[in-house]
Amino acid sequence: MTLIIDTRIEPERALAAACDTLGQGLPVAIPTETVYGLAADATNPDAISRIYEMKGRPRFNPLICHVADFDMAMRYVEFDPISQQLARAFWPGPLTLILPMKPDSGVHPLASAGLDTLGIRMPEGFSRSVIKRFGKPLAAPSANTSGKISPTSAEHVAADLGGKLALILDAGPAEIGLESTIIKVEGDEIRLLRPGGLDVADIERLTGKTVLRPETAGAAIEAPGMLASHYAPGAAVRLNATDVKPGEALIRFGGAALAGEEKAALVLDLSLSASLREAAANLFAYMKKADASGASTIAFGPIPNEGLGEAIIDRIERAAAPRG
Ligand code: TXA
Ligand code: MG
Repeated sequence: MTLIIDTRIEPERALAAACDTLGQGLPVAIPTETVYGLAADATNPDAISRIYEMKGRPRFNPLICHVADFDMAMRYVEFDPISQQLARAFWPGPLTLILPMKPDSGVHPLASAGLDTLGIRMPEGFSRSVIKRFGKPLAAPSANTSGKISPTSAEHVAADLGGKLALILDAGPAEIGLESTIIKVEGDEIRLLRPGGLDVADIERLTGKTVLRPETAGAAIEAPGMLASHYAPGAAVRLNATDVKPGEALIRFGGAALAGEEKAALVLDLSLSASLREAAANLFAYMKKADASGASTIAFGPIPNEGLGEAIIDRIERAAAPRG
């Protein structure tokens, strides 16, 4: 039986139940501002194993550790000056920093997949209250079966992992709807490992530096989770469609109609007012809706490759990649 508690109606009960379940070494689905996370005590190897099992996730793929405040972060990682500047400006928020782990930090190597670095983030919203109350960092990937679309609502989590989970905290739809932006600072270089909910332009404005994109940052895949095929719906995905074939599901942007869309199985618009923020928040839910329509192909209309558009296009490209 999966218990679902609405944090907007019963915040105190939600906090108590979450801490109780986490204390037993069991994962809890928690709402963050980016996507729903599958959280467990980052210091407890049994608890972390259960995350990998529930998701069917490869164990070489490290988890992000979520902290409640700077004191907690400081216990686990060493900050360089640029990372500190970024954290001060953008935490709590959709930014994950890859930082050297302190020796004897207590974070179990299963969480970091044996790396000597840790992906760390201070989330916004109810999940932060849970971490504060629990008093320890929570390792949390997105709360979906590995390779599937990340959940932006408690309903998504329940539909995917419901039978396996003891507790889901429901705080309504995730505000941002895309996973965090992942950054690694090396010397005086800022490298983007994954575009996400924090606009890279905001990082460049703050630091006065150009953020190095994965293509320019080096050939190897730096964030082990960045496998090409990811966020995969059941349907095939077609990008930058200029027309729609009969029976396809169409997801478009900015109210721009496409030729043939009257014959589509379904037409959804990520943001009629052409807001990339709104489009990001709707993306995963719309992909699930289009997939559920039974159409064998989801066609995406063009999306501007600027600001959050970069992360939106990244996720659509992964959804379109050949399935391995
Ligand atoms: O917004 C988010 O980041 C959500 C919420 C729940 O916080 N979490 C999330 O986790 O997207 P996940 O597990 O789906 O993606 C984490 C990514 C993976 O690509 C992983 O390889 C990378 O972060 N990562 C974690 N630790 C790392 C490290 N030490 N070095 C490089 N990449 C790391
Ligand atoms: Mg994920």
